[in-house]
Amino acid sequence: MIARAAANGLKVGIRGIGASVPSRIVSNSEIAELVETSDEWIVERTGIRERRVAEPGVGASELAVPAARDALRAAQVDASSLDLVIVATITPDMPFPATAAFLADELGAGKVAAYDLQAGCTGFVYALSQAYGSIAAGLAKRVLVVGVDLLTKYLDWHDRGTCVLFGDGAGAAVVETVGEGGFLGFELGNDGSHADDLCVPAGGTRAPATTATVDQKLHTMRMNGREVFKFATRVMVTSAERVLGIAGMQPEDVDLYAPHQANKRIIDHAVRQLGIPSERVILNVDRYGNTSAASIPICLAESLRNGMLRPGTTLLMTGVGTGLSWGSALMVWGDAVSGSHDGARG
Ligand code: COA
Repeated sequence: MIARAAANGLKVGIRGIGASVPSRIVSNSEIAELVETSDEWIVERTGIRERRVAEPGVGASELAVPAARDALRAAQVDASSLDLVIVATITPDMPFPATAAFLADELGAGKVAAYDLQAGCTGFVYALSQAYGSIAAGLAKRVLVVGVDLLTKYLDWHDRGTCVLFGDGAGAAVVETVGEGGFLGFELGNDGSHADDLCVPAGGTRAPATTATVDQKLHTMRMNGREVFKFATRVMVTSAERVLGIAGMQPEDVDLYAPHQANKRIIDHAVRQLGIPSERVILNVDRYGNTSAASIPICLAESLRNGMLRPGTTLLMTGVGTGLSWGSALMVWGDAVSGSHDGARG
């Protein structure tokens, strides 16, 4: 799925952004007490030094609330003015109802349309495209897009191939028409032939929870790390090239690149292939690990605060995740501001 945005002159962009992460920091050394690994191995093979882990009892909507409030405050709008809340997550509060239902209610958004979108680490980019599409089609005027995941809740803390990689986080954006800047294009895709390469096998309708599924740890994440790595390095580049192509741009036109933060080696590969200078690349995987759907909005909130993201910046975002899915969004940043992301909540 690929489309040039703003072709009809309609400018849709991000008005305000927010992020929140749990306060508890778990270092690589702490994980090395659980499995046979080391800080050196994790840093060398992934670039991750630490991640945030939510406390027991904290669910996706609870972590998303401060991020969403920050985004609304930054946009200077009230939750009651929203037409739609989209929560991108693969770690919902419950199998149903949607986490968006809990979040919208907690925010005081009233009888707003609210649903979850499941596209793994690509979820935020997918959700931005849906927000754009809803506004462009006249279905909505103002959309809250949230990316939140607490993948530490689905980890087998004795599987060193996965437990070193993930952390918890939330990010949110208010999407609406803007005076300056806005989205230039989207490119989204999925290859379901790789669906089993990154999954939680049980807990759905194929294998509902039984004592046997619990005993076999089938409610925790299973990952074919090498396959996912190969897939990610390929699509991070092809997706970025496609979205730039539809907008008539080249990698050198990108002022700021917000790649999904899964592994520094995947990002380094994409940056090298695309030829984007490293000073234009956002990198925080060292502090948060892979926060899935939250990774790109956390990058945006931090970049706004540190001045890397400014009005007029041409911003490229590319995600890749379970599905296996991928997606890119290209935009020119308007005058949006960041909420008070202090990196320690939940
Ligand atoms: N600590 C120490 N050794 C580890 C380890 C860990 N945490 N995890 C794996 N190893 C070992 C393996 O057992 C293997 O040992 P062996 O050679 O004796 O069999 C060795 O390291 C190399 O394994 P390999 O899988 O080739 O390592 P890698 O360099 O590919 O790194 C990942 C493994 C998981 C870091 C890497 O494959 C990866 O990042 N994949 C993508 C994952 C991802 O991003 N998923 C989310 C996508 S959104």
